[in-house]
This record gives sequence, structure tokens and C-alpha cells, in this order.
Amino acid sequence: MTAHQFAVIGNPIAHSLSPQIHQAFATQFGHNIQYQAHCLSVVEWQQQLEQLLHHGLKGFNVTVPFKEKVWQWVKNKSQRAHAAQAVNTVLIEEDGLTYGENTDGIGLCRDLLHNHQLNLQGKHILILGAGGAAKGVILPLLATGPAQITICNRTEKKALDLVNQFRSSGNIDSIKPHTTSTQYYDLIINASSASLNRTLPSMPNIVIDNNTVLYDMMYGKAMPYFLQWGKQQGIHTLIDGLGMLVEQAAEAYQLWHGVRPETTKLLSQLRYDLSMH
Ligand code: ATR
Repeated sequence: MTAHQFAVIGNPIAHSLSPQIHQAFATQFGHNIQYQAHCLSVVEWQQQLEQLLHHGLKGFNVTVPFKEKVWQWVKNKSQRAHAAQAVNTVLIEEDGLTYGENTDGIGLCRDLLHNHQLNLQGKHILILGAGGAAKGVILPLLATGPAQITICNRTEKKALDLVNQFRSSGNIDSIKPHTTSTQYYDLIINASSASLNRTLPSMPNIVIDNNTVLYDMMYGKAMPYFLQWGKQQGIHTLIDGLGMLVEQAAEAYQLWHGVRPETTKLLSQLRYDLSMH
């Protein structure tokens, strides 16, 4: 039997772990899949994507910088993808129609609640950043029952826009960077790309203690800069984005194949591999 074809598209894409993750999931179930990474041109991505579809793709993942573009391109989309205004998973339906989903937010929540056994009910969450990464996780985070989500962004207007977009879905507000907050935040999520430049994201002046949890959506061999800063502050619970990556992939796998893979062993393996390279 020929292998079912899946892919991830992005630019750049060379370091994507998605092919390895999806092949490992397929091995768990004895599924015969082929999953390839494709670097598409930022200008001609649409023609290139349609070529790939022509060759019989059953589904594909989407990463930077195509999540918003593919959101506009798909024919149908989930409510989550609709709210996120970004798509990271596409299912090609029997009739050839494209269905867009965003599994980033549920991946993050699964990592927090299941892998790290955190309870977010009644908690105060601070999100740093107001770009696509932040937008994609707000709705699933609100569904975990926090008391409040607060957004802080370098460009204040973008934080205010997100508050307006999501205020009908739960308790959400914003705070200006460098202002003093009287609120204690149980969980602080860095959804900005500041760690890429080894800088701290724009933040309010806050109280942090041993019970504060810091999360950075980035991952890599070295601890993300924001978590290094947290370690220096004496914070114990520092979580990088590797778990979110694996969990969003598991959700995508479930959408395509109807079964959810086990993630614990793979996550340990990837953590080990990262530490060795
Ligand atoms: P993504 O889709 O990954 O979220 P993005 O839409 O470009 O990417 O958003 C990046 C986010 O990181 C933005 O919130 C950005 O702040 P601005 O809205 O002010 O641009 C934030 N960001 C990037 N570099 C930063 C830095 N050095 N300090 C603080 N915030 C930063």
C-alpha cells in the first residue's frame, strides 16, 4: 500500500522537528505515512502549495510565515482557527476541500495541564506579546477557567486590539509595559519573539516568587533567554515550548487519523536529542 502523504510548509523549515514527530506517531499505530518538510517561497507559496496538493497530500502543517496566509486561503475552518486568525493544521477532505484548524492553543493547554499538572482554574495569567503566537492561544487558555488573562505588549495598541477581540469570550485585559502591577500572576507566558534576539520581552513591573510559573513558547538546546532570566530570579518552574510543539502535533495527528498518539516517551527522546546536539 502506498504511504499517505503529509507535510509541513514554512520558510525556513530545515530545522523543523515535525517530520520526526509525525513519523514517530505513525510508528505507534503502524500507520504508513510519509511526512516531508517543504520550504515554500514567500512570493509563490500558493502555486507551490497547490502543486503539492496535486500530488495527493492528505494534510499539512503550517509554520512561520504562512499561518495567517493559509488562514485566508483555506475553504473552511474551525471556530478556534477563526478566532486565532491563523491556521497551523490543514486537513484535505474527501471532496478536496481544505479545512483549517489551529492546534497551537490546545497544545499549550495540554502541556500545561497534562504534562506539567498545573491547574489554571481561578489563576491569573500574564501573556507577553500580542502577535500571532499570542492570538492563537487565548481562546483555549480562557477555556481552562482562569480568573483573568492580562496581555502586555511592547506596542500597546496590539494588546488593546486583542482585548477587544476576545473580551466577549472571558476575563481579559491589558497592561502597559514598565507600569507597576498590583496583581500577582501565577503563570507568565512569553508569546513574544524577544527570546530569538536574546532580549527580555516588554513587561510590567511585577512580583514574582517561588510559586510563579514561567513559560516560553521557544525551545532549543539552550534554555530560552526569558527562562534564563527567571532562573536568575530564583523561579523553580520554568517550562519551554517543546511540550507545546509535541502536543500541537498530536492534536494535528488526531485530526488527520482519528487517534491521539501518546506523547510522553517522544517528548523525553526529543529532550535528550536536543541536549546532545
Ligand atoms: P508571532 O506570530 O510569532 O507572534 P509576530 O506577529 O511578529 O510573531 O509577533 C511578535 C511579538 O513579539 C509581538 O508582540 C512583538 O511586539 P510588537 O507588537 O511591539 O512588535 C513582540 N516582540 C518581538 N521582539 C520583541 C522584543 N525585543 N521585545 C519585546 N517584544 C518583542
